[in-house]
Parts: sequence; structure tokens; C-alpha cells
Amino acid sequence: MTPIHQILLDRLASFPCLTFAEVMELALYHPEHGYYGPGPRRIGRSGDFYTAVSVGPLYGRLLATLAGQVCEELGNPTGFTVIEQAAHDGQLAEDILEASAFDYLIVEPNPRYEAVQREKLSRFGGRVRWVSSLTGVPDLPALFVCNELPDAMPVHLVRWNGEAWLELQVVADPAGALSFAHGPLSSPELAAEAALLPRDLTDGYTTEIGLAALDWMRELAASKFHGAVFIADYGFDHDELYAPERSTGTLRRYHAHQADDRVLEGLGECDLTAHIHFTRLIETAEAAGMKQRAYEHQGRYLGKLGLPWLATLEGRAPDAATQALLRQYHSLTHPAFLGRSFRTVVFNKQPG
Ligand SMILES: C[S@@+](CC[C@H](N)C(=O)[O-])C[C@H]1O[C@@H](n2cnc3c(N)ncnc32)[C@H](O)[C@@H]1O
Repeated sequence: MTPIHQILLDRLASFPCLTFAEVMELALYHPEHGYYGPGPRRIGRSGDFYTAVSVGPLYGRLLATLAGQVCEELGNPTGFTVIEQAAHDGQLAEDILEASAFDYLIVEPNPRYEAVQREKLSRFGGRVRWVSSLTGVPDLPALFVCNELPDAMPVHLVRWNGEAWLELQVVADPAGALSFAHGPLSSPELAAEAALLPRDLTDGYTTEIGLAALDWMRELAASKFHGAVFIADYGFDHDELYAPERSTGTLRRYHAHQADDRVLEGLGECDLTAHIHFTRLIETAEAAGMKQRAYEHQGRYLGKLGLPWLATLEGRAPDAATQALLRQYHSLTHPAFLGRSFRTVVFNKQPG
């Protein structure tokens, strides 16, 4: 039994059930025993999954190019800053700082992550600052970036019973085994989101509702900086997400590059993640005042950002370093790798 499982049993001694969002929050973010709690885990070949950041420095260079474009659109203001949330071990920050002269602001609530980032980025001195939440971000001209952040936010699980949406909540049996039980939706916010889901679904259709990602989007829109927001993650549009064949939802557990749906096992030792409902995320951002400027498969969006760089290579035999960058370009943009499963959404943002 993992420490998180024991913590859940202690809680379930006082409460009849817990929402899956409460379980996921603990399993990922408990400061001592959560998957993301004690410090940044290794991402990439020796970790549990790859991200665009772990592919190599080209991703940061392409985002530095985007930052340059946004800065120019704003009239090259002094103090233009790249803001990052979910900076993890500071790798993307290092890549963007190396590829640009912009200042950098990291939104990092976990002091252990901040300590790791400070060490990794120490050579950039005063160019890098930290705040612990979006409300601490000052009024700055900026490009905000985040890679694979909302997919790591807690989700509620709901099931269609042929007539209504019910919530799947976590219960424990007398022997301490965890399982799901049906109950009414646990909050008016969840009921309001469930009311937007289709109803012509088969009995037992199960999916997730990411209230935390929508709250984060509203908080991001309300934060004081202005400029643009770049979000990259995996997910679907409304019709793709609620397709008949996706009847068990997208919530998955990741460990050592293996994914499965045994989401109540190995709690705290495995990543838990759900696909983004991009249609709802974009609607929420626009309702909160941001304006969509792009929404595309990552391959297409990053492919276009990389065109000026590719043009500089024409007619020249690439050296070993350039060949490595070209391999990264291929991994980031090719549909069979990260190009199609990931999407990028970019907004223009006024001060909140
Ligand atoms: C899937 S990892 C992605 C890490 C990195 N961005 C990358 O792409 O390699 C998710 C990250 O989100 C971070 N995270 C989750 N909620 C956060 C929040 N509210 N503020 C800042 N980081 C957060 C976690 O600590 C973790 O580092």
C-alpha cells in the first residue's frame, strides 16, 4: 500500500467517499508523497513519459521566436518578459533564456521546485524571477508559456446512466481496497459543466470534467500581464472527446512509459493525467476576455514557427549540431510523434 493510499484510508474513516479530483490532487501534489510533491521527477527516456521540452532545446528556441514576434507586435516595450508556469526542473526556461535576451518570470507554488530551478538557472542572474501564484504576476508586457500543465490538473469523473450524469466517487471496503461508487454530482459547478455534456450516449459512458483547468484559465485571464498566452497540451475538441468510441474517458496513469486505466493503483508513484477539453478551455478563456489567435495541431504551429530557421539552412550541409536540431524538429512536428497528438492554443491578452 502506498503512503497516499494510507492517507486516503485515514480520510475515508471520517468521510463516506471522496471525489476523484480530491484523490488526484493528493496523489499528484501531496508535498511528501505525491507524484509531483517532493521535487521534479526525471522526464524523458529514463522517466515515465516524454514531453516536448524533453525532446531537446529546439522547442525553447521556437518559443523564443514566438516571444520575439509578440514583443515586436507590442512595439518592443522595455521589460518584455517570458512568463512560465509548470517550469518543472527549469529546462524550458534554460532553453528560452539561452535563445533570447528576454527576462523570465516563473510561476512556481512548490518551494522545492523553485530551489531546483534557481540552481539550474543561476547563471542567468537577475534575468529570472519567481512568484508563487498567478495573482503575484505584475502588470508586464509578456508571453506566457506552459507545456503540459492543464493535463496535470485534477478532474472529476462522471458516468451517464441513460437518464442523468452521476459522479464516480472513491470509497474503501473494510479490507482497505479502493473502488468507485456512483453518487450525485458533488457541487453546483460540476452540475453546470455536466449540463453541457451530450446526453445521447450509451448507458455507462464515463468521462472526466476538468473544473480545475477551467478555474486556472479564469485565473490566468484575470492576472495582470498583457501580451499573449501559449498553451501546449494533448486534448480534443468537444465532438472528438465525446465520440461514442471514447466511452471510458481519457483519464490514464503513466509509469515507465506504460499507460493504463488502473487509476486507483500505485497512487503517488504514477502520473495521472486526462486529455484537455480544448473547446471548453477556449470558450472559458474567451468568456474571461482573452482572444484566440491560433489553435492548431502542434506540428503545424511549431512547423510554421520554425520556417525562418529552416530557410537559413537551405543550400548548406548541416553540421552535427544542426542535424540534432533537425531531428528535434521532426519529433516535435511529425504527426507520428508529437505533431498531431499535441495541440497549441495561443491567445492575445489584455491586462486582467
Ligand atoms: C506533465 S509535467 C510538465 C512539466 C514541463 N512543463 C514539461 O513539459 O516537461 C506537469 C508539471 O505541472 C506542474 N504543475 C502542476 N500544477 C501547477 C501549478 N498550479 N503551478 C505551477 N506548476 C504546476 C507540476 O509540478 C509538473 O512539473
